[in-house]
Amino acid sequence: MINRRSFLRKTMLLSALLGVKNVFSALPFGASRRQNTGSSKEGPIVLSTWDFGKEANLEALSTMEKGGNALDAVEAGVRIVEADPTNSSVGYGGLPDRDGKVTLDACIMDADGSCGGVCFLEDIMHPISVARKVMENTPHVLLAGEGARQFALSQGFPKENMLTPKAKEAWKDWKKERIYQTEINRERHDTIGMVAMDANGRLAGACTTSGLSFKLRGRVGDSPIIGAGLFVDGEVGAAAATGLGEAVLKTAGTFLVVELMRQGMSPAEACEEAIMRIVRKQQYRDFQVGFLALNIAGAHGAFSIHPGFTYSLSKNGKHEVFTADSFLKGEK
Ligand code: GLY
Repeated sequence: MINRRSFLRKTMLLSALLGVKNVFSALPFGASRRQNTGSSKEGPIVLSTWDFGKEANLEALSTMEKGGNALDAVEAGVRIVEADPTNSSVGYGGLPDRDGKVTLDACIMDADGSCGGVCFLEDIMHPISVARKVMENTPHVLLAGEGARQFALSQGFPKENMLTPKAKEAWKDWKKERIYQTEINRERHDTIGMVAMDANGRLAGACTTSGLSFKLRGRVGDSPIIGAGLFVDGEVGAAAATGLGEAVLKTAGTFLVVELMRQGMSPAEACEEAIMRIVRKQQYRDFQVGFLALNIAGAHGAFSIHPGFTYSLSKNGKHEVFTADSFLKGEK
C-alpha cells in the first residue's frame, strides 16, 4: 500500500522529471493552508515565538527604522527578552540547571549563510551578541562553555550573576522533589526565536534560551545549533523552533522547514510537515515543539504539536499575537 511519504517522494520525482517546480502547491494539505500567508515583500516583517515576542518585535522594528538591517534587528529584538528578569526560559531570569547554574544557548544567522553561536555559556547577559561576535570576529561557528565565556569576556562583555532570586527559589523548590520532566508550554513560553526581513528583502534570524529548566549540567538543546533551533537561507526563507530541543535536534527541524519551502511548500505547510516528522517518529504526547517560518515573498506560517503555541507578527504597521494550528487539538 502506498503511504503518504512514499506518495510524496514519488510525486516529487515525477515532478522533477516533468520539470514541475511547485508540486506541493497542488497537494491537498487542508488545514495548514488556512494559516496566515501574505505575499507582501514591502516593508519590514518580524516574526517571533510566543507572546513575549511582541516587545522584542517592536525593538527589532525600531532598529530597522533607525537604519539597521535584518541582522541588527533580530539581535536587538531578542536582547529585550534576554534582559527580562520575569522571563524564566531566556537569559537573565532563566531557570538554572540541576546544579543551580544558569547556562545559556544562542545563535544568529544571516541571509548569506554566515552564522555564529554559543552554548553552555555562563555569567553573560546577552548570549545573542556573543554569538554575533563569534560569527564576525572568529573563523568558527560555535563556542561552548568556558571557552565561550572567556571569548565573551575578551570581547568586552561584563561578567554578571544570571541567577535571579526568583529563579534561585524555584530551583530550591525543585530540589525537594527533583522531578526531571518536560513541561508543555512551560509557563506558556520558552525559547525566543525570531526571523525578520528588512525593507531590502534581506532575511536574518536569532534564537536564544536558558534551555530546559533543571537540566543535567552540560545539556545543550536545539537553540544554539544552526539547522535545529534556527536556519536562514536568503534565497528561500527562515525558520525558528521552540519547545523540547532534543526533539528538534533529532529532525534538524529548521533546516528541514527551509528545505521544504525550497521544494515549494508554503511556510505553514513546511512547519506542519516538520512537526509531522516528529509526530511520526517520537513519543510526542509529552512535549511541545513549535516551528515558525517566513519566506522570501513575505509569507509566514507556524505549527506545533500541542495547542497553545503563540507567536508574534509585526507587519504593515500591525503587531499581532496569533496561536498556531497544532497537530493535537487539546487531547493529550
Ligand atoms: N528549545 C530550547 C531547549 O530545548 O533548550
